Amino acid sequence: MTDERQEAAGGDKPHATLVVTGIRSCLTMTNGSAGPAAGDAQESVGELRDAAIAARGKELIYVGPATRMPAAVRVASDAVRVDAGGGVVLPGFVDCHTHLVFAGWRAGELGHRIAGASYQQILAAGGGILSTVAATRAASEEELTDRAERRLEHMIACGTTTVEAKSGYGLTLADEAKLLRVARRLDGIGPWEVVPTLLGAHALPPEYADDRNGYVALVEEMIDTLSDRAAFADAFCEVGAFTSRECARVLEKGREAGLGVKLHADQLSDTNGAALAAELDAVSADHLDFISVTGMAALATAGVIAVMLPSVPLYVGAHRQAPAARLQSAGVPLALATDFNPGTSPVDSMGVIVALGCLLMRMSPAAALVAATRNAAYAVGRGDRIGTLEVGKQADLQIYGVDEYAELPYRFGQLVPSIVIKSGSVVAAEGEFGAPAAGGS
Ligand code: NIG
Ligand code: FE
Repeated sequence: MTDERQEAAGGDKPHATLVVTGIRSCLTMTNGSAGPAAGDAQESVGELRDAAIAARGKELIYVGPATRMPAAVRVASDAVRVDAGGGVVLPGFVDCHTHLVFAGWRAGELGHRIAGASYQQILAAGGGILSTVAATRAASEEELTDRAERRLEHMIACGTTTVEAKSGYGLTLADEAKLLRVARRLDGIGPWEVVPTLLGAHALPPEYADDRNGYVALVEEMIDTLSDRAAFADAFCEVGAFTSRECARVLEKGREAGLGVKLHADQLSDTNGAALAAELDAVSADHLDFISVTGMAALATAGVIAVMLPSVPLYVGAHRQAPAARLQSAGVPLALATDFNPGTSPVDSMGVIVALGCLLMRMSPAAALVAATRNAAYAVGRGDRIGTLEVGKQADLQIYGVDEYAELPYRFGQLVPSIVIKSGSVVAAEGEFGAPAAGGS
């Protein structure tokens, strides 16, 4: 029987509702083991040549050689057919660290920083996070939702299909609740997934300037009251922000409330943040530009994912990056993210971050792409469902009209996916949000 007649006969083969053909290179990000990839495994992008992909509804039902697909699935007559045009396909990016919901951009700080002001000096003078807090408190829920929705449209058009979103610009119970409500609402109004994180311990608000203890107690109350609205609890452990002891207090509370733990650790100085993240059994420790050798060993032993944010030192003017190669040799799984926020990283494109991972941190293109997909999915606790392309996982993928995957970081910031697919549907094309009129090519 010809392939077509076999397909028409159908049998008990699963019926595909979407197929992608014409794939020269498919990065499955699988290497036979579950969990985030560490060490040499980071080189394992699981590349398949001349591949095809099929999904039924949201779920992948075939990822393999194009020649074998007809024997494995039946393509429904109304299935969406996407031609990758001989390009590269990989999982949708997972942006596992953002401060998505805010009002109050701080472009004005760029000049101050270039003139020599430090991040902490700007914060101590009431600028930095606190100026965004003032603007965010003043903004309505509708305005915050609307602004963040526009950002998500751009992110998904650039290939990011899942976005973690931290609160942390409210710093009152009511305002943190407002930010988490916005994050949850955003999760339902578009094709993207939004993972909400409670970051009450982001900065000491001015009304508590003389009562640190009172504010930490308020953060504990936030966790008690809001834990059902977030997936993670996070804290900023840094000189000028919160001490290790304060962070431990709120994050232990978060863990007791059933939240996953994350920590902004060792960003501007070595505060033993990585060791604290390991002690707290955190899912991830983020930033790590000043991590110590002991901190690296602690992360490796505890299996904490290092989320590296290479755009931030550029904007802060610190010019010291997390030591990707040393973390990798220590056996720490590496993830990359934008840290998208109005002050230290206005960058919303994971493609740019992958390029910076290669150019500034000297990661291999393969390791950077694993860090932006599979490992980032584990850093938001969803690695069992997203981040790799394999049967049974969600059909979140992106297609680039290039010959080889190294072109993604090589052509820094210049490429957008020709097609983005989220949960089995085409959601963006050629850098524009929205399905193309014909529903694929
Ligand atoms: O991840 N480090 C603390 N928080 C953010 C910055 C937020 C801001 O400056 O508004 C960060 O870099
Ligand atoms: Fe951050």
